[in-house]
Amino acid sequence: MVIEVNGVRHNLADDRGSERLIDFLREELGLHGTKNGCGIGVCGACSVLINGKVKKSCVTKLKQADGKSVLTVEGLESIDGTLHPIQQAFIDAGAVQCGFCTPGMMLSTLALLEANPDPTDDDIAKAFRGNLCRCTGYTQIFQAVKDASVKMRT
Ligand code: FES
Ligand code: FES
Repeated sequence: MVIEVNGVRHNLADDRGSERLIDFLREELGLHGTKNGCGIGVCGACSVLINGKVKKSCVTKLKQADGKSVLTVEGLESIDGTLHPIQQAFIDAGAVQCGFCTPGMMLSTLALLEANPDPTDDDIAKAFRGNLCRCTGYTQIFQAVKDASVKMRT
């Protein structure tokens, strides 16, 4: 199997196909931004993008990512360390409290804005159906998405 993660290709033995993607990301690659929350596909803390689509890495097997490109939160910032507009918008809007949900929220935001650069509140709510936050009450998160949408359009 070959899995690309944040632009780096990884060759893996074919007999590892049934391992969880989240374990490969966190334990083997050290990408701890992908959070292990519920572990059963409910909370969205483990969300990553696979070929641009939001996927929950706790219920994704390595074989499902074979030949595909995975983006984690660590892949959002530029090589020079400049934050992605979505990361900056979450900070500026105060949309991060404990931060446990934030990587998944940011990746869901990226998938949303790439498909729909000027989303309504309903669009944002639909995009976050699979992402739970126990801290912020969502108001600041919605604001961050709107701020990011402006930044990314201009
Ligand atoms: S940890 Fe994967 S959905 Fe909760
Ligand atoms: S900021 Fe704590 S769970 Fe969302």
